[in-house]
Amino acid sequence: MKINVPDYILKLKPYKPGKPIEELEREYGIKDSIKLASNENPQGPPESALEAMKNALKNAHRYPDGSGFYLTQKLATKNHVKPENIVLGNGSDDIIGLLTRAFLTPGDQALMPLPSFLMYEIMVNSAGAESVFVPLSGPEKSFSIDLDGIVRMINPKTRMIFLTNPNNPTGTVIRKDDFDSFCSKVPKDILLVIDEAYIEFARDENGLFGQDYIDQGRPVVVLRTFSKAYGLAGLRVGYGIMDRDIAQVLNRVRMPFNVNSIAQAGALAALDDEDYLEKSLAVIQRGLDYLYGELDGMGVTYFKTQSNFFLIDVKMSADEVFERLLREGVIVRSMTSYGFPEYIRVTVGLIEENKRFIMAFKKVVSL
Ligand SMILES: Cc1ncc(COP(=O)(O)O)c(C=O)c1O
Repeated sequence: MKINVPDYILKLKPYKPGKPIEELEREYGIKDSIKLASNENPQGPPESALEAMKNALKNAHRYPDGSGFYLTQKLATKNHVKPENIVLGNGSDDIIGLLTRAFLTPGDQALMPLPSFLMYEIMVNSAGAESVFVPLSGPEKSFSIDLDGIVRMINPKTRMIFLTNPNNPTGTVIRKDDFDSFCSKVPKDILLVIDEAYIEFARDENGLFGQDYIDQGRPVVVLRTFSKAYGLAGLRVGYGIMDRDIAQVLNRVRMPFNVNSIAQAGALAALDDEDYLEKSLAVIQRGLDYLYGELDGMGVTYFKTQSNFFLIDVKMSADEVFERLLREGVIVRSMTSYGFPEYIRVTVGLIEENKRFIMAFKKVVSL
């Protein structure tokens, strides 16, 4: 069969998600394995969301509300913006795709930190545009995003800049002061995408909060998700907060029913469930305290995070440590594909899962 595929599509490397538990158990014949690989919420979904979704199932024969009216209204109120500033997505991945499809054409460039979330590159390149990578600062600055380095790479082809706050996979945050200074050096027609997938976990009082920059005279889009702190990764609900003009453009390329009715109901209930969110943050903080303590005791180098995952310097092949941990029934993420061949990223789990990780880690690194 002969089909014409654009060169830039042929060059795409498909996104490799964290290894699913079922796949590990099938391949290795292991039971009771744990997954600390995809920065998911270890608590399970909010009960309130489960109840709301059960009710919503009764109307599954109807198309969803394409505008996501109630969810959009609630998100607008919660974020102190207008409903016109919100666009819902099938996960925040979807919004990244809408942005690149709507605003990039072949020949354009988008700047992004390296490493950061791999979908930026895939989406930018699938629009035929070019991803330009700006390495993070070194370990002495905890691998924070190098804003000055990004400014140096701006040129007339630059249309979009991705900033991840907190960053994945390093867990660092951008300070508001640094962002203000960055903005003063960035031309006002470049779209700034601030990905806040993990913002609920951030504790730095001086950190950047993207929505403060909406409708302030430069194009800014803030990405949020229900996949992390709200425990609904499987539902695929995310959203963007943005200037009204940008929202109107995205709505031209958005699929009419990109967020299904069950997901809308679940997200709506989760937003009201403050107890769940509070518990999520407490579980992560307690988990981090435990994990840091254990790793300190082992003399292992790791990087403190403002998120629900963190990097460990394993000082050997991360792929090897990943494989060894798999055989112990523990899935983490090797950072080789992110350009850190001696680092693993570990998502904070429930206390028993964290203990299980530490036990397995001690075993595999002392081999
Ligand atoms: C930085 C970052 N942005 C976006 C996403 C995508 O999240 P969603 O599940 O909303 O598509 C992830 C998922 O891991 C992420 O790490």
